[in-house]
Amino acid sequence: MRILGIETSCDETSAAVVEDGTIILSNVISSSLPLHAKTGGIIPEVAARQQIKYIIPVIEKSMENATALSLSRRGKLRMDDIDAIAVTVGPGLIGSLLVGVETAKTLAYVWNKPIIPVNHLIGHIYANFISTFNSSFDPELRTEGQLSTLNFPAIVLLVSGGHTDLLLMEDHGKIKWLGGTRDDAAGEAFDKIARLLGLPYPGGPSIEREALNGNPKAFNFPRPMLGSGNFDFSFSGLKTAVYRTIQSLNPNDQRLMTKDLAASVQQSIVDVLVKKTIRVAQKYKVKSILLSGGVSANQNLRDELKLNARRYPPAGGLNAEFFAPAKNLCTDNAAMIASAAFFNYHPKPWKQITADPELYFD
Ligand code: KG4
Ligand code: ZN
Repeated sequence: MRILGIETSCDETSAAVVEDGTIILSNVISSSLPLHAKTGGIIPEVAARQQIKYIIPVIEKSMENATALSLSRRGKLRMDDIDAIAVTVGPGLIGSLLVGVETAKTLAYVWNKPIIPVNHLIGHIYANFISTFNSSFDPELRTEGQLSTLNFPAIVLLVSGGHTDLLLMEDHGKIKWLGGTRDDAAGEAFDKIARLLGLPYPGGPSIEREALNGNPKAFNFPRPMLGSGNFDFSFSGLKTAVYRTIQSLNPNDQRLMTKDLAASVQQSIVDVLVKKTIRVAQKYKVKSILLSGGVSANQNLRDELKLNARRYPPAGGLNAEFFAPAKNLCTDNAAMIASAAFFNYHPKPWKQITADPELYFD
């Protein structure tokens, strides 16, 4: 089954064609990020206007780029080659979401195709299910782990700009929320702290880059809620601690210490995320640990979670297999949306599909 996925929840306009939920035939992403870097954050109105500008060319390009493996002829896909349309309906920015949702509904109506509404957060999880043997893929960006060993139950650590959640995934469509952030999301913490450090938006990649040559033990920042018995997170205290530290340094020292500050902040966030995830994985004796969301691009987080999954095997003596998406699938893209729709195939009449900025897990 070939699904055209459409994703416009925030500042990326993306369209992708994915075969059987795992094989990317095309994945086109146009980002208005450079515009937001100038303002140090996303201005919803600006993001929505960019979505309108890019949505049609991006969908056209995704059809052009796709070469269906199962078709005898080569070249651009036609509407007949698409079996269904998947679209992100939320959560996200209302102006941005509407562009994708209304475009997808129009296509579904005109082409007479089934349409599947997708929760953006569930979409992020499915970046792990996309295998990367498509030749157009950079082999360096391979998914860490193989689809064949992705067994349930799994623990999902979902870390993005707006969300930090721990989920128990017992099967496709059977996802239970176990805990999440009480204030800032992990990505939001990276973004806000980067701003304090004078590093460019988005903060996650900036801090990771800066941290490369820094000492993660230089500053002992708090590990919020590490000792709490539940599976919740809190990152706003960390932001305050970094702010106080910066205030206590003279500007010259601060400039000299930016690398150490970045490395120490990253270490604190990674420590909390990893320890809580391993604890919950042990509790539920899972077979797989899945990392997902924009922050999963962080190499330090990937390495530490992988290492600890081996060191503390949750499932009665068996190691839980660790999975992280290929790096180019960690941040927002439409391929993950098409994949989620394949594994959770519940089409709805197009008239019933609406954007829901507040959508969460039900
Ligand atoms: O999932 P995503 O693309 O958008 C949302 O749905 O929120 O996540 C974006 C977030 C931003 O906060 C960004 O700073 C963070 O992911 N991020 C990273 C890295 N790359 C992106 N955080 C830490 N390290 C990274 N390498
Ligand atoms: Zn996202």
